[in-house]
Amino acid sequence: MYAYVLPDATIGTMTEKVILKQGADATGYETSGTLAEWRRDVATYCINNSRLLHITSIPFAAPLLGILNKEGGGFHIDGQSSEGKTSLEYVGASVIGNPDNTIKPMNATANSFEGEAANSNDAVMFLDELGEAPPEQIGSIIYKLAGGKGRGRADQHGNAKARNTWRILFVTTGETDLETMMKTGNRKTFAGQSLRLANIPANAGTGNGVYETLHDHPGGAALSEHFRKATQKQHGTAFREYMTHLVNDLNTNETDLHERLNSYIKNFLHGAVPPGADGQVFRVASRFAIVAAGGELASHYGVTGWPEGDAAWGALTCFNAWLDRRGGIGQAEITKLLDQIEAFFDRNGESCFVALDGDERKNNHPVNDRYGFRRTVDSVPSGEKTTEYFVLSTRFKDICANFDYRWAAKQLAAHGIIRGDGNGKNSISKMLPGMGKIRCYHFFPGVDNGGLPDSIPF
Ligand SMILES: Nc1ncnc2c1ncn2[C@@H]1O[C@H](COP(=O)(O)OP(=O)(O)OP(=O)(O)O)[C@@H](O)[C@H]1O
Ligand SMILES: [Mg+2]
Repeated sequence: MYAYVLPDATIGTMTEKVILKQGADATGYETSGTLAEWRRDVATYCINNSRLLHITSIPFAAPLLGILNKEGGGFHIDGQSSEGKTSLEYVGASVIGNPDNTIKPMNATANSFEGEAANSNDAVMFLDELGEAPPEQIGSIIYKLAGGKGRGRADQHGNAKARNTWRILFVTTGETDLETMMKTGNRKTFAGQSLRLANIPANAGTGNGVYETLHDHPGGAALSEHFRKATQKQHGTAFREYMTHLVNDLNTNETDLHERLNSYIKNFLHGAVPPGADGQVFRVASRFAIVAAGGELASHYGVTGWPEGDAAWGALTCFNAWLDRRGGIGQAEITKLLDQIEAFFDRNGESCFVALDGDERKNNHPVNDRYGFRRTVDSVPSGEKTTEYFVLSTRFKDICANFDYRWAAKQLAAHGIIRGDGNGKNSISKMLPGMGKIRCYHFFPGVDNGGLPDSIPF
């Protein structure tokens, strides 16, 4: 038998098989008003607002992680000041308790989050202003929250204490995205971090900050103001009602429940993940899919009052915004590398390369910071002029700064941007003026990603 243990109440019967469980601190799990009032004054206004639907579905999704054996992770809402980011969190948090207590400030270090995270097990954590955390610690905070394990510690007698563990979804906000924030702390963002904290642009693109639909309010600020007031009075009831249904289903109807959840998830992934997407996209899409499932299930139980499919639409719209921002379905690192290379040649293609061919050679300007040589060739069969580059091996490493140069060479070759010697090497051997025959990298930076530049003569 399943039970969900809230800090101050147990939903279901306490047995040995309690799998959904939270910590002891009841702050943030208060209730006020009735569910019907919450639906009327809060949930109704989420309709046709993707960010609101998504954020409000997250608390319903968090207890599904354990049931479906899925990993935890976060969503970061980033946008300019006064777009309504914190207001979004107020609405989402009102599912669980009093937003003033449910939303936690971020100005603490990675370790002090362990207690909060453990206390939110099988539930959601709302954190405001990620930028208030020490920038050099943001990376480890994300890994910690998503990873679900605290540090091993010793008690006063030196004996190992039980580790805190948690499985949570979390939401953060900020004026910049994760990458920019981490740069402030001189930290590079790893793909693993971006995957654990999916960046959703706050701005919904309709001129009203986070909102697409104002529901008769004169502006975004007025709707945000409405939410602040309404969520003070109406909160906490939705989650308890939802968990009552969920625990009941788990105990009496588990197979049907799993089928329902799997069908929500499958439908979402089918509509969201483009063909050819890599594992990283799929992994993030799976987290959005659980949010869609949580929202849809809550609507199915009659908790939200939203029409069927609305929660899934909200999650899908936010997922697409994430995907757009990421720059498509290629692996995040590859996209970054290709951008870096393109920017390098845009900036330095002329100034840092000595021209090898006729006219250009005559007018050669002095190259102080030489990366290699360039020449203009006619592409076959179009006859258009294009430039190819021979980058010296030592400078190739500079162009690929922040990446392992061997890995970078492999990716660039796979995308047709460099061409090897045909014997499995990604570099070539070439006679270059004043240098004799040396190894260098043969670049075709103008080539579209994805194909070998057949039309360019070697
Ligand atoms: N959608 C909106 N359009 C225009 N103004 C808004 C909108 N939402 C909120 N505001 C204005 O911004 C104020 C703060 O709202 P909120 O805290 O939700 O914004 P925020 O995006 O979190 O801002 P910050 O980045 O400063 O934390 C509101 O009181 C209101 O005046
Ligand atoms: Mg804010």
